[in-house]
Amino acid sequence: MQTPGLIVASARLPVSLTQRDAGWEAAPSLGGLVTALLWVARRRPFTWFGWPGTYVPDSDHAQLRAELDKHGSKPVFIRQTDIEGFHQSFSNQTLWPLFHGRIERTRFDAGGWHSYRAVNDAFAEAIAASAQPADVIWVHDFQLTLLPALLRQRGVTNPVGFFMHTPFPAPETYRALPQREPVLEGMLGADLVAFNAHEYAANFRSAAVRVLGAEFTHEGVRFGARQTRVAALPIGIDPEKIAEMGESREARQELASLQVTYAGLKIIVGVDRFDYTKGIVEKLRAFEQLLETYPRWRHRVVLIQVAAPSRMTVSDYQHLKREVDELVGRINGRYGTSSFMPVVYVNQSVSPARLTGLYRAADIALITPVRDGMNLVALEYVAARAERGGTLILSEFTGAAHCLPGARLVNPYNTDEVAAALAECLERPGTSPEQFRSMVRFVSENTATWWSGHFLGQLEQTAGESRHPTARLRLGTMPLAGMAHKARRPLLLLGDGLLHLPAPGSAEGRPDPRLVRLLTDLASFATTYVVSGHTGETLEEWFTDPRVGLVSEHNLATRPPGGTWQPHVLASSSSLKDLVDPLLREFVRLTPGSAVEYRAAGALWHFRSAEPDHAHLQARELLMLLEEQLKGQPYTVHRGKRTVEIRPEGLSKRHAVTRLLDQYADADWLLVVGDETTDEPMCEAVPASWRDRTVTCAMGAQTPLATTWVESLTELLDELEGLVQAWRRRS
Ligand code: ADP
Ligand code: F6P
Repeated sequence: MQTPGLIVASARLPVSLTQRDAGWEAAPSLGGLVTALLWVARRRPFTWFGWPGTYVPDSDHAQLRAELDKHGSKPVFIRQTDIEGFHQSFSNQTLWPLFHGRIERTRFDAGGWHSYRAVNDAFAEAIAASAQPADVIWVHDFQLTLLPALLRQRGVTNPVGFFMHTPFPAPETYRALPQREPVLEGMLGADLVAFNAHEYAANFRSAAVRVLGAEFTHEGVRFGARQTRVAALPIGIDPEKIAEMGESREARQELASLQVTYAGLKIIVGVDRFDYTKGIVEKLRAFEQLLETYPRWRHRVVLIQVAAPSRMTVSDYQHLKREVDELVGRINGRYGTSSFMPVVYVNQSVSPARLTGLYRAADIALITPVRDGMNLVALEYVAARAERGGTLILSEFTGAAHCLPGARLVNPYNTDEVAAALAECLERPGTSPEQFRSMVRFVSENTATWWSGHFLGQLEQTAGESRHPTARLRLGTMPLAGMAHKARRPLLLLGDGLLHLPAPGSAEGRPDPRLVRLLTDLASFATTYVVSGHTGETLEEWFTDPRVGLVSEHNLATRPPGGTWQPHVLASSSSLKDLVDPLLREFVRLTPGSAVEYRAAGALWHFRSAEPDHAHLQARELLMLLEEQLKGQPYTVHRGKRTVEIRPEGLSKRHAVTRLLDQYADADWLLVVGDETTDEPMCEAVPASWRDRTVTCAMGAQTPLATTWVESLTELLDELEGLVQAWRRRS
């Protein structure tokens, strides 16, 4: 058996190439994504698909491919005409600012979008051509949002996971994106989409529901036939490697040299990829404010700010450089002397070992992003100082703030607050030893290896669930279909979830006319039942042919083919109304677009026309309150698709199926059709003794309880029509 290989795709490879006179030169790529994946690769090797960071002419492809292949890297070369659009434009001037909530910096340029699509397509082409059946594919970050769906379009059925390293913005912000649908659809091609924080995962789910009309599910969202798990799995680092680097000669030299140079001074450190999201300007302003308002710290503290140049072809980054240069000049001009500068500004990339030495020398790490998916620097500082403790002043707008409760959290926009926090932490450590130990614990437990293992474990589990061995419903060709064609006493039980009957509160008032016609045709050849949650009156209005059997309100009553209604449970909703009406009315008032419907034996609160985010929260609340209110009463409360339903005890489609199977025990072929939310109990209710003459069918490939699936109502109707034709030919 083949061992599952791991394929990783990220915009950048771990090395970026530059063409020199003497040939191609490779330098390490910069950024949190590459850092973390290199840590993962030390313990879990993988094949890495990515862009080598520059234009490479066709004539050099073969040579560089061979060279990079030796290091497990598969370059995806980008056409010169697409680099600007893909990298500068759509990735870094559209998605990056938008995903960081900076709509005023976001540019919407159609040309960039075309290149972005073309590059995602090139990745899909390269990966689809090389993936083996047992491989797991892990796509990273905002530059490759379309890749999961493009892989699916190429017929890739391997588990595909997506990790977003950036935040995901609030739906109101996200909705500004002209390409908001394809970007979401692209990500939803994955089995698992994960983020650094719950907030981002929740924003993503809400955007999928609002923009695409996807459905919330227990663990994520469902869009069309595809179910995607959405999770928060914060990324980690490799603390052992950092401890090891701390002991290296380079780190020790750095530490010793800083201790000599700044003897007697407090050291504050800032380490950032040079980016406006990192709050470098805000940090410098706060430091200036410290020196201004707390003069006792003048000449007693130094801020060492290391900022590695990044995306310098993008104009926002060029402006930022000018702004930072000016601020540093101003602070040093005002508070420096010929022998001492309070801000040491290093606008360079520095080796990881030297950075570790710097962290070890620093009394305080000052990390002030205005928005950051995670911020690995915060974790690195904690790991580097695991033994000696330290003080971490951290922006509350980072993913790391959710994981490091011992940090002193600040709002980087509040210059006074950050300056005051600095003054306080310079006086005495801002983090107690116990608080620091709790941060060390998080960093040591939530390592990059653990993160990747956890992600891949969840991915395989999710993909396994959705790839359980069910086949597409093909009544003409599957083994049990032969039985259908020959069956003399076929029985069809059709749950209404999959029949797309108009939901309560929906605009369209009647079922698909093709379905109504087809049920009449089916009823000429087979005992046919619609097993529904709707009331008897509604069902009779929709299905006028008396030969179609009906089960109303989850088994409250049955109208057998050609017969009259027979109740199974004697219930009335009047006593229920007394119990719950005030509460339900209150929720209708507080949730515009929702409504209450009383049935013969239950009640339903539905919110199809309400604002989905608010309504889903209200539904959760209502469910809890109803369960509390109906304790000890003969009712059960159920959450459906955009509904909360109260039913008398004992009413369920499962009971309906059990009863009908007893009644039609001599049936020689059975088809049970249901969707996975409201009808699943129907498939579950089929006992083992029926299996050899039963086909169960679900919508989507999600439920292991059904043996077959269809993607849509149209597909189901096509199949049933084929069956009717076969029966017609036979008779
Ligand atoms: P981002 O993902 O936005 O790049 P992170 O803080 O998560 O930000 O990760 C940045 C990574 O880059 C860290 O591993 C950090 O050590 C490294 N880094 C930051 N600044 C520099 C620098 N000046 N030189 C070298 N590496 C740096
Ligand atoms: O998530 C941060 C990130 O965008 C990474 O994807 C990337 O490694 C880094 O920043 C550098 O960005 P760029 O590839 O645009 O130079």
